[in-house]
Amino acid sequence: MITCPVEVVIPEECRTLDQNEEWIEIVIDGKAEKIRLHDYGRFYEIPGFYDQFYRNLQCRSPQVVCETLKRQMAKCGQDGNALRVLDFGAGNGQVGERLRQELGCETLVGLDIIPEAREAALRDRPAVYDNYYVMDLADPSAHARETLGGSHFNALVTVAALGFGDIGTRAFVNAYNLVADRAWVAFNIKECFLSDSDNSGFSDIIDQLIAQGFELLESRRYCHRLSLAGEQLHYRVIVGRKNGNIRGEQ
Ligand SMILES: C[S@@+](CC[C@H](N)C(=O)[O-])C[C@H]1O[C@@H](n2cnc3c(N)ncnc32)[C@H](O)[C@@H]1O
Repeated sequence: MITCPVEVVIPEECRTLDQNEEWIEIVIDGKAEKIRLHDYGRFYEIPGFYDQFYRNLQCRSPQVVCETLKRQMAKCGQDGNALRVLDFGAGNGQVGERLRQELGCETLVGLDIIPEAREAALRDRPAVYDNYYVMDLADPSAHARETLGGSHFNALVTVAALGFGDIGTRAFVNAYNLVADRAWVAFNIKECFLSDSDNSGFSDIIDQLIAQGFELLESRRYCHRLSLAGEQLHYRVIVGRKNGNIRGEQ
């Protein structure tokens, strides 16, 4: 575990903010700096900081999603060593590390939209990924499609990366359509994105997935992490198997 000499200050006013507006102050070598929790690039630049910060907020999602996938695969008698995984929104590699521990994996490819994520994963977890790409799957180039297509993925994993201005529906649909039929699909999503009042588009996409034959094996509510105010933030972990592309690629 990398130790990280950063002092974190949570100003009182930050304890009432919405999840996507949360920010903190950090002090490094006596210099104070304000960062939004969604400014992942800055978190990743400081070795060990992302892991330390989310450990303190009791973030459990990499563990919950990977263990749920492992349990469902075991129920189906499937071997993790044959998995060819696309870890979408891979960040600094926490999920990749878990996948290696829990399932082995034949191939594990990380993909993120920001270069700082790839740099941090290669710096902090150099043995985890076979390849790690920086790409925007909302609008993938022909070269990107060809490169990813060559990996013949049979699993798509995405953790703590859907919605909130991160991975949008268009990129998610493209990733889903990129993996093989009958691929394992494991992700988590905040509950509000699945409600009737959702306007992110994810509620519709999940309905479409299921209407089009997605084999839903497990869908369970759990505490993703604590907010800065110490309140539980609930997400849903969803694991199942793809049955055909989502029609009308966006
Ligand atoms: C909260 S972090 C989660 C990282 C990792 N999955 C984990 O659980 O530790 C969200 C990640 O999604 C990435 N991300 C946001 N939008 C994205 C997009 N459109 N395509 C790929 N990655 C994206 C961010 O850069 C960030 O690394």
